[in-house]
This record gives sequence, C-alpha cells and structure tokens, in this order.
Amino acid sequence: MKNIVLVGFMGTGKTTVGMIVAERLGMTFVDMDAVIEQRAGKDISRIFADDGEQHFRSIERELVKELSGRQGLVIGTGGGIVLNSDNVHDYGQTGLLVCLSASPSVILERVSTETHRPLLEDGEKGKRILEILAARKELYGAIPHQIDTTDMEQSQVVTEVEELYSAIKSH
Ligand code: S3P
Repeated sequence: MKNIVLVGFMGTGKTTVGMIVAERLGMTFVDMDAVIEQRAGKDISRIFADDGEQHFRSIERELVKELSGRQGLVIGTGGGIVLNSDNVHDYGQTGLLVCLSASPSVILERVSTETHRPLLEDGEKGKRILEILAARKELYGAIPHQIDTTDMEQSQVVTEVEELYSAIKSH
C-alpha cells in the first residue's frame, strides 16, 4: 500500500489535511516535525537555535529514509524537504507525492499568530514568506500533483487528495 506524502510550504494545511485523509482511509498519519521533536526532546525552534538548520536537515533526511521504507502512511512533511532532491526521490519511490500550495496572503493569514516556525521568525513574516516561496518555487513546482488550496474548503482538499490516491491505486 503506497504512502501519501503531503509536501508544500508552511501553512498550506499538510498536517490538518493529512490527519483527516489518514482517518478516512484507515491509514496511519505521521507528522515529520512532531516525530523529530519527540525524538530530540525539544521543539523545532530549539533544534534550529541549539544545533542549526543543517543539523535539522540531516535529521529530516534520516527520517525520510526511514518513512519511505514503510507502507500505508499519510506523511505530513516539513516544508523544507524539497531542498534535498534525495528526499523527493525517496518519497516518490514508495508514495504518492502531492504538493499543497496557497497564495502568500492566505499563508500569512494562517501563520500570522504562530511562533513555532523559526524560518518565519527571522524578519517580517510577510516578507519572509515571499522570499522563501520565491527561492523554492521550482522545487515545489516540480512535484507532479498540485493542489492550490487558496480558495478551497478543507473538505475539498481532502477529497482531491483521496481522488488522486484512488487513481494511482486503480492503475
Ligand atoms: C520548514 C517547515 C516547518 C519545519 C521547519 C522548517 C521549512 O514545517 O519543518 O520549521 O523549511 O519550510 P511545516 O511546513 O510543517 O511548518
């Protein structure tokens, strides 16, 4: 049973949508950031502050290797997994990759009251979102299945992910 791997920028709904899809399809939901935090015994912001982003990326890389060796998972990835093409390759071997996107203003609205994403705390949030989106545009754009959630209800996003998954299952 292939995994469903939700990729995309921070605040595009990977975790919320992933949890609902997993529940509805009887699959197991795994949130990468939550696993990393649990194993490290500290939150993502602390990992970035204490150990640096590179260390976080290497933990993330090891977790991708581990999870792509499993089956029947819905995986909510961290927004930065696309920075390493090996991550995208490995997840693609055993899973359906779906990239969720949203307009910068919708992303800003969703993350505006949150403080747990270190990359958005480094300067004015709206500006950081535009900068990081621009830097990653091609990386996200290269994922074959795309859902622009900007004007969608969450339930519609869930349905689209399920439809994509049943399409690959019946092939
Ligand atoms: C990151 C996204 C975060 C988290 C970390 C870095 C990124 O995950 O992994 O703060 O580089 O885009 P979410 O996309 O779940 O917020």
